[in-house]
Amino acid sequence: MAGLLAGKRVLVAGVLTEASIGFAVAKAAQQHGAQVVVSNFGRGLSITRRIVGRLPQPAPVVVLDVTHDEHLATLAERLREHVDGIDGVVHAIAFAPQAAMGDGFVDVAWSDAATALQVSTWSFAALIRACLPLVGGGGASVVGFDFDASVAWPAYGWMGVAKAGLESATRYLARELGPRGVRVNLVSAGPLQSMAKRSIPGADVFDDAWNERAPLGWNHSDFAPAATATVALLSDLLPATTGEIIHVDGGYHAVGA
Ligand SMILES: NC(=O)c1ccc[n+]([C@@H]2O[C@H](COP(=O)([O-])OP(=O)(O)OC[C@H]3O[C@@H](n4cnc5c(N)ncnc54)[C@H](O)[C@@H]3O)[C@@H](O)[C@H]2O)c1
Repeated sequence: MAGLLAGKRVLVAGVLTEASIGFAVAKAAQQHGAQVVVSNFGRGLSITRRIVGRLPQPAPVVVLDVTHDEHLATLAERLREHVDGIDGVVHAIAFAPQAAMGDGFVDVAWSDAATALQVSTWSFAALIRACLPLVGGGGASVVGFDFDASVAWPAYGWMGVAKAGLESATRYLARELGPRGVRVNLVSAGPLQSMAKRSIPGADVFDDAWNERAPLGWNHSDFAPAATATVALLSDLLPATTGEIIHVDGGYHAVGA
């Protein structure tokens, strides 16, 4: 299926290590013919610059902290140094302070919850808005990453609320941007051993649950299924799909016990 993304210019925001969903997406997108630009911010940037060297092809790295208004306001012009338009935007970004996760949901301060919601929910809309000047008449496909927010999980805390917000934001964005040919969808992934997951206190509980219940089984170190589902959404194979959540979780969401 090589060439599914031939001619497409894709921004992958949120590539930190080789064990980042963003890295797996950037790799799969290149393998399917896309021209890829990646972004990250802060202390992680030096790791990102090193890690992109392990992609099949070179990929420019642009700086983007989604809490930084100036970064968002200048993103389109900085992307233009590398690409003459954008056909795909991948949002692989989330963060919550430790205090907003784990036990004690009812005690979490607004400032900690607010950070989780700004970085993990609002930034989806902000990233799309920042990229819109580069979207041409052919529209674009936008993909974000969800962890099933239809239930309350142990350990996940306000990040779960942020994901519920992300699911809702996806529907609002799909509604508003559909007339411009912009499709907005989420991949709801099972637990994967990234830095983000390692920072959730008690996240091992997810591994045990998936080992026991996922009908197809689940490999916590295999980022490829989430990445290839993203490639499918970025491609022209799903032109009438928007506001959708595609589960890439070994079927876990479909079973009760
Ligand atoms: N790992 C999992 O089990 C899992 C499951 C479902 C969904 N997800 C989601 O996948 C996405 C990618 O996470 P990952 O698991 O690959 O972890 P990761 O730690 O590899 O990636 C998270 C990225 O977010 C970036 N980020 C954090 N704050 C930012 C900010 N202010 N501005 C810009 N970038 C910022 C980090 O630098 C990093 O590149 C997240 O939305 C996450 O919630 C992860």
